[in-house]
Amino acid sequence: MTDRSPRAPDFPHRHLLGIEGLSPLEIKALLDTSERFVEHNRKMDKKLDTLHGRTIVNLFFENSTRTLTSFELAGKRLGADVINMAVETSSVKKGETLIDTAMTLNAMQPDVLIVRHDQSGAVKLLSEKVDCAVINAGDGQHEHPTQAILDALTIRRRKGKLEGLRIALCGDVAHSRVARSNMHLLVTMGAEVRVVAPLTLLPAGIDNFGVEAFTDMKKGLEGCDIVMMLRLQLERMEGNFFPSVREYFHFYGLDYDKLSVAKPDALIMHPGPTNRGVEIDSLVADDFSRSVIREQVEMGVAVRMACLEILSHNLHAEERLRNL
Ligand code: CP
Repeated sequence: MTDRSPRAPDFPHRHLLGIEGLSPLEIKALLDTSERFVEHNRKMDKKLDTLHGRTIVNLFFENSTRTLTSFELAGKRLGADVINMAVETSSVKKGETLIDTAMTLNAMQPDVLIVRHDQSGAVKLLSEKVDCAVINAGDGQHEHPTQAILDALTIRRRKGKLEGLRIALCGDVAHSRVARSNMHLLVTMGAEVRVVAPLTLLPAGIDNFGVEAFTDMKKGLEGCDIVMMLRLQLERMEGNFFPSVREYFHFYGLDYDKLSVAKPDALIMHPGPTNRGVEIDSLVADDFSRSVIREQVEMGVAVRMACLEILSHNLHAEERLRNL
């Protein structure tokens, strides 16, 4: 891949901590760079040496299948050394704080730290204490930027654009960092964004996101190009937000009846992991004429390669400037 110096002019940032505040051009730069890696990842030989000699550390304080694995694959495909720090067997369990853990890893001179944490704002705090680039792999219910970029890439490849599309984000919007990052990205890129949820699962201040809120699925899904379902984040709920899972599925679970009011070619999306029979009917999730859930996972590797390439480039451009 081409060497660009100094910082990438189209994405001149050290870290990727969230989508909020990024410009349409910066988001487009991330999507265009990701696009380059999609075809590459379908080749037999996927190995590049763009990040040869660089060290990437995955530091996940919360469970993950898709994000952790795709960041590891992305780093390895670019030729970097990738370490997955096992938090469960680390000194975190002896009481070492997040910041002390980050400073310890920082002393080992990594180039990129990829961090998932259950506290909103924890990844930003950590980024202020280290010398390397930091990518937010999900912080509490705040942001999950690479998920929103891979969702946007999936939509753009299928529909040819983001601007003007009617997109519904449905379910547990209140506790979802995926929803927050997607709202920021899709509104910035000119989509008409709707959120559909029971009142108890709509976040305070939803009016400030530039989206339209609905509490009725059939009203919210009417004429939609994209129906994105969200998992019930039971691990972030204190108290009762809905009477029962059976009732939740009846009113908010995506089935063919509710989907019938969306456009005939509407795509079904879900960031995963899916809870079948809770927020989505199994038949709908597996309907590969409409569901792009597997494609979202594929796009995740390309997007994470793009983010690693751009941020590593920017970090070393800064270093070169300092040494002039
Ligand atoms: N979508 C997502 O973040 O999935 P994981 O929790 O498996 O990484």
